[in-house]
Amino acid sequence: MGIKTSLRPVICVVGARPNYMKMAPIIRAFKAHEPVVPVLLVHTGQHYDVAMSDRLFADLELPPPDVNLGVGSASHAVQTAEVMKRFEPVIDEHGARAVLVVGDVNSTLACALVASKRGIPVVHVESGLRSYDRTMPEEINRVLTDQIADVLYTTERSAHANLVREGIAPERVVFVGNVMIDSLLANLSKAPSASDLMTTAGFGMERLRRGYGVVTLHRPSNVDHPDTLGPIVDALRTISRRLPLVFALHPRTRANLERFGMLDKLDAPGFLVLPPQGYLEMLGLMAGATMVLTDSGGIQEETTALGVPCLTIRENTERPITVEQGTNTLVGVDPAALRDAADAVLEGGGRRGRVPEYWDGRAAERIAAHLAAWLSARESSGGE
Ligand code: UD1
Repeated sequence: MGIKTSLRPVICVVGARPNYMKMAPIIRAFKAHEPVVPVLLVHTGQHYDVAMSDRLFADLELPPPDVNLGVGSASHAVQTAEVMKRFEPVIDEHGARAVLVVGDVNSTLACALVASKRGIPVVHVESGLRSYDRTMPEEINRVLTDQIADVLYTTERSAHANLVREGIAPERVVFVGNVMIDSLLANLSKAPSASDLMTTAGFGMERLRRGYGVVTLHRPSNVDHPDTLGPIVDALRTISRRLPLVFALHPRTRANLERFGMLDKLDAPGFLVLPPQGYLEMLGLMAGATMVLTDSGGIQEETTALGVPCLTIRENTERPITVEQGTNTLVGVDPAALRDAADAVLEGGGRRGRVPEYWDGRAAERIAAHLAAWLSARESSGGE
């Protein structure tokens, strides 16, 4: 029936911004593997703006997607359902040796679910991270994807314990390191210098001499309610009097600031408000920063790899190694705590940390080697 299993592609799925930098090194490693692991790259279209998608493909030298499902924005239920409906025919048309998903966005869970129901092995990269906060949509996506995954690749050793606690067979879990850091190490030398970026954006060198901070904010729990978003922005405004802040504004956050009539809060001399940045620009900005203030997951890891102090504006993190070994401090959302934490970095220089085990630029290589062997063993034992 149909083509030989080993010639079918591994379908690799991306949907939203934080997926691209994880997928780029994996695709490169599959191509470099002997024998080559055939790939079909599917973009669900969860993110679709040039700034949130095309630009990052170019920066990361990701090949254009073979298939774009074009789902766009919608409620969680509708978005997840649309991805599922549109993804299943792709499996029918191309066949799949396995479906590989990364991270924790809605597209991750949707495609894993379709593959699992079709009896196709699900491979999850960045498994086992847990915030233990089930109000986060990503936590639901992580827990459920891991439950149905056949191979689970982890970025830090704590993930293994989380998975085993949830009843996942330990032999399915493989510690490979962090593919996001593969991308960072491969691209850092191509990143524009922060001073070039700031000058181009009209923020003179004079301001740079005192250093600057970088801000990103987009978690629904921080930005979807005026009572939370307002005080956070006020605290940032206070910090910006001591340290100029470059604020790369996510579309969700911009839309909410407009809706709440708060956009003018960013109209302060210490703020430089930018649209979502390219991957290389963001790396350049972070690498040169005095500190980064964020609620992103990936940025907690990138700042740890860069050795730049990170203040995380959340009550929890699914990436504890960044706090235990890296440069991350979990500050919470209390404005006074945020101001104090920023003052402490300005006065004491902040945490320097160290780079965790296997965050060495070779995680994708380990995945390619392991997965190729795992698939061959499975296929030769007749398990399809
Ligand atoms: C999604 C992920 C989140 C990830 C984030 C990175 C889920 C549940 N959430 O959140 O884990 O950290 O991506 O950005 O999958 N929008 C645009 N242009 C776009 C995409 C979105 O303007 O290209 C706007 C739309 O108004 C949309 C809103 O942003 O409604 C939110 O987009 P959505 O994909 O639903 O979630 P994110 O907040 O981006």
